[in-house]
Amino acid sequence: MKITVLGTGYVGLVSGVCFAAIGHDVTCVDIDDSKISLLQGGEIPIYEPGLSELLAKINKSSINFTSNLSLALHECEVIFLAVGTPEGEDGVADLSFIFEAAKQIARSSTSYKLVVTKSTVPPGTNFKIRDLIRRENSNIEFDIASNPEFLREGCAISDFMEADRVVIGTENKRAEDVLKSIYTPILNGGRFGSGKAKFLATDIITAELIKYASNSFLAAKICFINEMADLCEIVGGNVNELSYAIGLDKRIGDKFLNPGPGFGGSCFPKDINAIVNFAKSNNCHLSIIESTLKSNDHRIKKMARRVLSKLDSLGGKKITFLGLAFKGGTDDVRCSPSIQIITVLLQLDNTIKIMASDVCAIEGAKIALRDLPVKFEADMYLACADADLIIIATEWEDYGKIDLLKLRESTKASTILDLRNVLNAKEVRSAGFVYKCIGIT
Ligand code: UGA
Repeated sequence: MKITVLGTGYVGLVSGVCFAAIGHDVTCVDIDDSKISLLQGGEIPIYEPGLSELLAKINKSSINFTSNLSLALHECEVIFLAVGTPEGEDGVADLSFIFEAAKQIARSSTSYKLVVTKSTVPPGTNFKIRDLIRRENSNIEFDIASNPEFLREGCAISDFMEADRVVIGTENKRAEDVLKSIYTPILNGGRFGSGKAKFLATDIITAELIKYASNSFLAAKICFINEMADLCEIVGGNVNELSYAIGLDKRIGDKFLNPGPGFGGSCFPKDINAIVNFAKSNNCHLSIIESTLKSNDHRIKKMARRVLSKLDSLGGKKITFLGLAFKGGTDDVRCSPSIQIITVLLQLDNTIKIMASDVCAIEGAKIALRDLPVKFEADMYLACADADLIIIATEWEDYGKIDLLKLRESTKASTILDLRNVLNAKEVRSAGFVYKCIGIT
């Protein structure tokens, strides 16, 4: 199948490369010429483990990159919209990139097109896309479809190839059949990945809602376990054991039950805000989802106060943060809990000295923290040298495997505050540190 993917961000680029890897002819389009030049030279402009290796394996004739949308549209039958839907000032999703793309499709198409939205958009947006294309060009033959994505940064390729489900929302069988044939290689019985994905065809509104419901539910799960961690700390329980035990119940499931400093990233906060606002504008009050946002905001502040009180009891002012990315496995610092905690901390006490380290997110963090007096050091042992307190703020594997004896020799800090519960308490203590983590007294 000849496919055009519009937008070469995380979603568009991973999807485009994966579509090519499962046998389709793909053209990835972006208005950013510098990104396209990099991609044409075989370089990947984002950090996503395994993506450049996968791109290198794909036959060069199966994937190409261009900033010329009209040319790409000329050839293809299916267009996936994977452009950004950033949060607008009022918390409502900004759909201008989506609508601009739809206009261009209407103007440049000369044959049948299936226009599939992968970007996360409020329910009803696909109908607006349909109406806009019709208004712009009444001669074009086309269908619309919603195909929400569930890729996580850091493991997006396996999330694509070994997806649990492929969800599509369509208005007719023609669109459904085209999408089913595109995804057949990864569906149950397919020849790629684990071939276990279930194919779910729904109406358009339901497909659009499934994406928001999934992200909201996962975020609520994280808030739930974080609140259980708070309770464990007060009454003397162990949240790791609690999380493991409840996760064994298949009705609950063991995923997304890791306690931490709160959720972040470019999706959960934005999508939850968007669905809450969308529901409000439809006179529907999503109280659980709203509480999820409040609970998470509260958590960030709570973590900052915890760090401050630890520092007070140590009588020092120097903190080293290990981890700046919003989670392990990515260089993305958007809505990173770590960055937010640093910001709140310096608002509460501007005499604190912060040194920050990360496996690969330092460049992004330098921009995010440019107005604050934060120092950076890539080497985690050097970063900790002068600290009074070490904080693990991102669940990088490297931090879980840190050489504790080497760390003991390299730092003057006596205490480690592990906000991701990645270290083994016994090992840390026997290396000579005071160890504090989340939800365990
Ligand atoms: C999330 C969803 O997991 C994807 O399915 C979805 O496609 C994507 O958003 C999106 O809408 O594009 P992502 O933002 O990459 O993916 O990150 P997650 O792995 O979901 O983590 C989100 C946040 O929750 C991170 O800050 C992470 O550290 C935190 N988290 C996650 C926890 O605190 N505990 C957990 O148990 C799991």
